[in-house]
Amino acid sequence: MFRLKLREELELLKRNNLYRYLRRKEEGVLDFSSNDYLCLSKHPEVIEAAREGLKYGLGSTGSRLTSGNINHEILEERLAEFKETERALVYPTGYSTNLGVISALCKRGDLILSDRLNHASIIDGCRLSRADVEIYEHCSVESLVGILEEKGKRYNNIFIVTDGVFSMDGDIAPLKDIKKVADEYNGVVIVDDAHGTGVLGGGKGTLKHFNLKPSDNIIQIGTLSKAFGGLGGFVCGIEEVVEYLINTSRSFIYSTALPPSVVSGVLKSLELIEEGNLTRKLQENIRCANRVFKRYELIQVDNLTPIYPIILGERTMEISEYLLQRGIFAPGIRYPSVPRGLERIRVSINVGHREEDFERLGRLLKEYTR
Ligand SMILES: Cc1ncc(COP(=O)(O)O)c(C=O)c1O
Repeated sequence: MFRLKLREELELLKRNNLYRYLRRKEEGVLDFSSNDYLCLSKHPEVIEAAREGLKYGLGSTGSRLTSGNINHEILEERLAEFKETERALVYPTGYSTNLGVISALCKRGDLILSDRLNHASIIDGCRLSRADVEIYEHCSVESLVGILEEKGKRYNNIFIVTDGVFSMDGDIAPLKDIKKVADEYNGVVIVDDAHGTGVLGGGKGTLKHFNLKPSDNIIQIGTLSKAFGGLGGFVCGIEEVVEYLINTSRSFIYSTALPPSVVSGVLKSLELIEEGNLTRKLQENIRCANRVFKRYELIQVDNLTPIYPIILGERTMEISEYLLQRGIFAPGIRYPSVPRGLERIRVSINVGHREEDFERLGRLLKEYTR
């Protein structure tokens, strides 16, 4: 009976063209799918550092609060320095960071204001919290203030949660204005800078991009799985926030810590990001892609981040397949990851791409969508 029910639901997904398949990236394809913006996942120094970290064993063998606290605090100290905050705390993934931070800090009697296009892990963190959640229109400070004016006074604490760089659109949250609103309404900003770290603000992220200084009412979240090329998530903020999370955040407490080799690897990634050359090279590549993609009329305005949403609607999956047959890996993104009607190929570029790669993609997309 249960099997039958699931089968029916799966059939429905297929009929609605929403069925997800796992697909292996073939060797030798031109890859526009990965979040490895700085190509650090395969950087020889990072791999060597990770290999060195294997001396501690394959796994961390336990939660950070039991046997799993190995080299993690070194990474946390470095991340706090890098983000210019009092403390940092590392989680097993970026997903579990959002889940664990939001659900621990936001409680019954609190209000979370969440951008309409926030990442699924933020949405799930909000759901898991006992706070009331209001969605404001994407990047709209007007919408945010509207809700606060109407409802803000009823709550103990106010949290404004936003991606720094939006994962499916590549645009940047108006963080300076959001911070002003937070100051005005005595709120706290939680910014998930998964796609801003290593990319904007000389690598330091969205806060730096806006010349904002870390403060008591800003909590920064990041991931070690994208520009860092590894795995894991982290949160940066004031001492009390980190101590509170160590004591109450369930995805931190009840999950095995990152493998020490990954910690060693991303420590090296951090060192390389801090040197600045990779982020500068990425920005050069973004400017180059802007020129090429504009010429092929794939974009109208310059991008500041490596994420290019090429909105193709219903034809997205067909076009993604067409690209794959021609040696380009650029998966389509469908509902519910993006709203219906806005299905897209999410082109993400990295420091390893060359101008001719952008040309090849631009030409094929133009040919097929003409
Ligand atoms: C904005 C955002 N936050 C969080 C995550 C989750 O990070 P991770 O993949 O490291 O779990 C992602 C990645 O998918 C993301 O795009």
